Amino acid sequence: MTPLAALLRDLIAKDGPITVERYMAEALGHPTHGYYVTRDPLGAGGDFTTAPEISQMFGEMIGLWCVATWRRMGEPSPFVLAELGPGRGTLMADALRAARLEPRFLDVAQLHLVETSPALREKQSAALSTYRPAWHADFSAVPDGPLLLVANEFFDALPIRQFERTADGWRERLVGHDGERFVFVLSSSEPDETLPSNAPAGAIMENSPASLRIMREIGERIARHGGAALAIDYGYVRTEGTRAWGETLQAVRGHQRHDPLEAPGEADQTAHVDFAVLARAARDAGAVAHGPLPQGLFLKALGIEVRALRLARDATPEQRKAIDAALHRLTHADGMGLLFKALVIAHPSLGAPDGFA
Ligand SMILES: C[S@@+](CC[C@H](N)C(=O)[O-])C[C@H]1O[C@@H](n2cnc3c(N)ncnc32)[C@H](O)[C@@H]1O
Repeated sequence: MTPLAALLRDLIAKDGPITVERYMAEALGHPTHGYYVTRDPLGAGGDFTTAPEISQMFGEMIGLWCVATWRRMGEPSPFVLAELGPGRGTLMADALRAARLEPRFLDVAQLHLVETSPALREKQSAALSTYRPAWHADFSAVPDGPLLLVANEFFDALPIRQFERTADGWRERLVGHDGERFVFVLSSSEPDETLPSNAPAGAIMENSPASLRIMREIGERIARHGGAALAIDYGYVRTEGTRAWGETLQAVRGHQRHDPLEAPGEADQTAHVDFAVLARAARDAGAVAHGPLPQGLFLKALGIEVRALRLARDATPEQRKAIDAALHRLTHADGMGLLFKALVIAHPSLGAPDGFA
């Protein structure tokens, strides 16, 4: 049993079952035993790989997007360049290298990184120290001002609540312990959430209060001070008024699917992002939402194929193969091209951002 599993088992024995939200928050962020607190989980030797770790082209395209968006914003000086959950700092390092084509952008950008993991802050420091970043544990601590924000695979790492429709109405899903293992159980009363009455029995609904809060804050900040935020993640889009019934909580360990109720703190836990709900939160705060657009279309519109050709020109045959494979994985429907999506939250004066025209 992992140290965190023992702590959670004892907590449940004392106080009763905990929400899925609390379970996920502890598994990922417990101050001593949380998954992100204790390790760098990225890359081939870790548990999963993200787009910036697949190829430099991903961060470079985002760097060009940031420069173009800064120009649309009227080239504010200074401005806040923020990243939520920067991992190893690879995306931002590639983005800022590409942004060298506009030295004024680099001169006036003030880099702010929102990161809770000490292990990953160290990596970010190694990758980005020349840009003198400031770190924050939460977006609310990032200073005011015109904002350009990037978040890749950040929202999927935030805790979710789960609700199950039963014959007696909606109940919240909780995590209990049967003496041997963690098990899902249901709350005895109706949850404090407005949930649709037309869902079939057995339907599961999810929401992420932390994601909503942060997106609302980003929307407010942009409405007040100008700017844009680019969130790329995997998730679903639903038409307003309809709802996908299904659970998306999943765990990954050593690049393999893992039972989320097993070994909390030792496996990554994520849930699909509900883009429609995030977009609405930003809109309600006074910003506008563009997309989401499939990642493949977004990267192609920004010129990733041309970049791949340019890189291949000076590459060895081996490197050329790797560039082709990375391009395919990032843009194709059988890789990350369709499931991953780009959502932009922007000030209403900005018009359609690059890639969304
Ligand atoms: C899946 S990783 C993505 C890393 C990076 N963006 C990439 O694409 O490689 C999630 C990142 O979010 C950070 N993170 C997770 N929960 C967080 C929270 N509540 N507040 C701030 N950062 C968090 C993790 O430490 C990690 O840096």
